[in-house]
Amino acid sequence: MTASPAPLIAFGRLRAGRRLSADTFWLDVETPAAESFRAPGCFLKLRGWPEPGPLLDRPFSLHRVQAGGLQLLIRRVGPATRLLCGLAPGRPLKITGPLGRPLTEIIPDPADFYLVAGGVGLAPMALVLDWLRESGRRSRLFYGERSGRHQVDPAWLAAWADDFTATVDDGSGYGRPGLVTEPLAEALAREPRPILACGPPPLLAAVTGLAERFGVAPWVWLEAGMACGLGVCLSCSLPLKEGGRFKVCREGPVADGRTLDWEAA
Ligand SMILES: Cc1cc2nc3c(=O)[nH]c(=O)nc-3n(C[C@H](O)[C@H](O)[C@H](O)COP(=O)(O)OP(=O)(O)OC[C@H]3O[C@@H](n4cnc5c(N)ncnc54)[C@H](O)[C@@H]3O)c2cc1C
Ligand code: FES
Repeated sequence: MTASPAPLIAFGRLRAGRRLSADTFWLDVETPAAESFRAPGCFLKLRGWPEPGPLLDRPFSLHRVQAGGLQLLIRRVGPATRLLCGLAPGRPLKITGPLGRPLTEIIPDPADFYLVAGGVGLAPMALVLDWLRESGRRSRLFYGERSGRHQVDPAWLAAWADDFTATVDDGSGYGRPGLVTEPLAEALAREPRPILACGPPPLLAAVTGLAERFGVAPWVWLEAGMACGLGVCLSCSLPLKEGGRFKVCREGPVADGRTLDWEAA
C-alpha cells in the first residue's frame, strides 16, 4: 500500500492560459514544486485572485504536470473560477497539495479501465491515463457534455487522449448525440471493465448503476463543494449506504460508488 503524499504549500506564477470552450479554460502554472503535485487521484487547492476575493481557496484536480508547470482545466461557475479564468500571465498563485488519497492507495493493482468524464470531470483524466499507461494498462475515455458550446477543443483533447468517444446530450456539437452512458453501456456489454468516472452526481449515480448491472467496480471521483478541508465541517460529505458519511476532502476524492447512498445524496 502506498502512503498518501505529504501536502505542501507552493507558490507559482500563471505562465499561460487558453480558452477551450465557452466556459472552460486551460491554465498553465509554473512552479519549481510541480513534480511534488504529481499524484493521480489527489487534488490541490488554489488561490491567486486579487484580494479581497472569495475567502476560501478552491479545490481543483490536476490535469497534467509538464515542463516545470501544473496544468489545470477550469470551468467558470462562480466568483473564484471567474477570477481564475480571467487572470493575466505572470499572476502569482498559491497552491496547496497534493490533498486526498492517491489512486495508487485505493487501487493498488490497476486493471484496464473505462474512464468516464462528464463536463469538467475531464480535468483529472490526463493524469489518470498517464498512470494507466505507465502500469501497462489499456483505457478508453468516454467524454460527455450537455451541448456543443461546453465541449472542449477536439484537437486539444486528441493530443492527450488517444482512444476516446465524445457524446453531446443535445446533438449540437461533435461526437455522438445522446448521453455518455449509452456508448459506455454498449462497451460494457461487449467487454466488461472497471470504471473510473468524474462528473456531476447524477452521472456518477448512473455509472454506478451500470457497473452493478455488468458486475464491474465503479470508482467515482467526487467534486463536492468544500469548506474546512479537514474532515470537520462535513460540507463535502456524502451519505454512505451503511450509515455515516464519506468525507471527500479526507477520504476522497475517489470512492467506490457502490458504498454511497445516491438516493439520499
Ligand atoms: C476534489 C475536487 C476537484 C475539483 N476539480 C475541478 C477541476 O479540475 N476543474 C473545475 O473547474 N472544477 C473542479 N472542482 C470544482 C471547483 O472546486 C468549483 O467549481 C469551484 O470551487 C467553484 O468556485 P466558485 O467560487 O467559482 O463558485 P461557487 O460560488 O463556489 O459556486 C458557484 C455555483 O457552482 C456550484 N458548484 C460549486 N462547486 C461545484 C461542484 N464541485 N460541482 C457542481 N457545482 C458546483 C455551486 O453550487 C454554485 O451554484 C473540483 C472540486 C473538488 C472538490
Ligand atoms: S470540507 Fe469540511 S469535512 Fe470536508
